[in-house]
Amino acid sequence: MKPKPGMIKATSGYERFVHWMLAISCLLLCYTGLGMMFESLNFLGVIMGGLKGLKVVHNFTAIIFTVALILAIQMWWREAGIFVFPEDWEWIKAAGGYLWKVDHVAEVGKYNPGQKMFFLTVALFGALMVVTGFFMWLQPAFLPIEALRWMYPLHVLGFVVIFAFFFIHLYLGTIGSPGSLPAMTNGWVTRAWLKKQHPKWLKEMEHEGTLVVYKGGDKKKV
Ligand code: HEM
Repeated sequence: MKPKPGMIKATSGYERFVHWMLAISCLLLCYTGLGMMFESLNFLGVIMGGLKGLKVVHNFTAIIFTVALILAIQMWWREAGIFVFPEDWEWIKAAGGYLWKVDHVAEVGKYNPGQKMFFLTVALFGALMVVTGFFMWLQPAFLPIEALRWMYPLHVLGFVVIFAFFFIHLYLGTIGSPGSLPAMTNGWVTRAWLKKQHPKWLKEMEHEGTLVVYKGGDKKKV
């Protein structure tokens, strides 16, 4: 969708590319993983030529996911991986104003503590998935069989955690917080959304003169 004049640039093309590379590969891994794990879901493999197809797609996608995860951690760890006190703690105590009525929600930076928790979950459990997955795939001779056996339940644990958090993220990135999705589609958001979701970040950009406003066909810094 084309941005409207007055909208503000929230994400770069690179940020969106890494996000979707991570998101699509993660969802494809969930799809193929579920199809292999439960007999009742084996039918998910029909479009991939059966169980063998699911395995090939799963392993190949794991390589893309690994690259995307490294790029995402490198891109987001400063903004989404570190809690800032006291404001993040104030935000957590009020649950960001999402769960009950709060008169004042602490102003936090580009990512709020809820988003930071999601990022950290993806980073930590994503890394667990990569490590356990590659050990199960390659079964290196140096790894004792007892350790190899642990990789299976740990891989399932990582899946359960990421899959559960994904639905919260999906809800908050779409209908739960209207106006968020464009941040990850065309990159332009409204000033009202920024003021509500990321007030401190808006002030920082205004203060530093890095705010990019859409002027209708032509971008301008103000
Ligand atoms: C397909 C459904 C998805 C949608 C609609 C979606 C939407 C979004 C949106 C709108 C944002 C920006 C939020 C903001 O700036 O306030 C975002 C950020 C992010 N997304 Fe997604 N996303 C999806 C899937 C995923 C998946 C599967 C992953 C990880 C495996 C993921 C990881 C992230 C991370 C780490 C961020 C930045 C930090 C954060 O908001 O927690 N997304 N997403």
